[in-house]
Amino acid sequence: MTQDNSSQDNAAGQNGGGDLFNTAAGWVLGAAALGLGLSILADKYFHGSDPQRPEQLGYVIEGVADESAGPAEASIADALNAMPAAELIAAGEKAYSKCQSCHTIDAGGANGIGPNLAGVMGGPVAAKGGFAYSAEMKALGGNWDWDKMDAWLKNPKALVAGTKMSFAGLGKVEDRAAIAAYLNSKGGNIPLPAASAPAAPADATTEGPGPVEGADASAVEAAGGASADQPVASNPGAGQ
Ligand code: HEC
Repeated sequence: MTQDNSSQDNAAGQNGGGDLFNTAAGWVLGAAALGLGLSILADKYFHGSDPQRPEQLGYVIEGVADESAGPAEASIADALNAMPAAELIAAGEKAYSKCQSCHTIDAGGANGIGPNLAGVMGGPVAAKGGFAYSAEMKALGGNWDWDKMDAWLKNPKALVAGTKMSFAGLGKVEDRAAIAAYLNSKGGNIPLPAASAPAAPADATTEGPGPVEGADASAVEAAGGASADQPVASNPGAGQ
């Protein structure tokens, strides 16, 4: 009897516990469903998962370059400074295979369809003795510097309309830089141009440990003439 009783008690206890558990589970499930429903509603109204940029920004920063325009092609100066000179010259020696059918490069080399190119960098245009340049080439004048060689190798006919050099040109500034560096290593040896400095912020030179009031005043002015007692820190436009 005692055993039966206790087993009944146990069973009842278990059932009671089961009911309680089910009730609690029901609440938990209900709460979860409610929470899910609310978050779906909230997403619908506040675009929580799809943030949208306002069409007009709250404040406009003047003088910031528009970065949406595509990057311009690197200059030959940058391309010349992009890798160690020895690597650049080695790359140029390879690319020079495109020129070999018409030019010799070593000092004292013969003129071929084109003139010998030893020492051409830094030297005067159209000056190799014994080569019959076109009149247009002779009229170009000046010396071969990096920019002139860059223009020439990019599109010879664009620089010298009537040139005898039938060569389409090299589209990649890296190739032009490499070949120019190789030519320069063959008796030219003009100094490399400096790489263009990264664009500095416009006020970089005027900023500094100047008088604090002056800086504050200009910051307030920049923020659109807000009154001087307005706390500067609360205006996002007044940041430096
Ligand atoms: C199909 C032949 C041909 C090829 C290929 C060719 N050139 Fe020329 N090059 C010429 C001729 C011809 C001239 C003279 C042009 C003139 O008088 O109008 C010339 C002139 C030049 C000059 C001017 C030389 C001076 O004395 O002022 C340079 C520099 C030059 N070439 C570099 C190159 C380089 C670098 C390549 C390879 C990327 C190349 N050329 C490929 C035929 C060629």
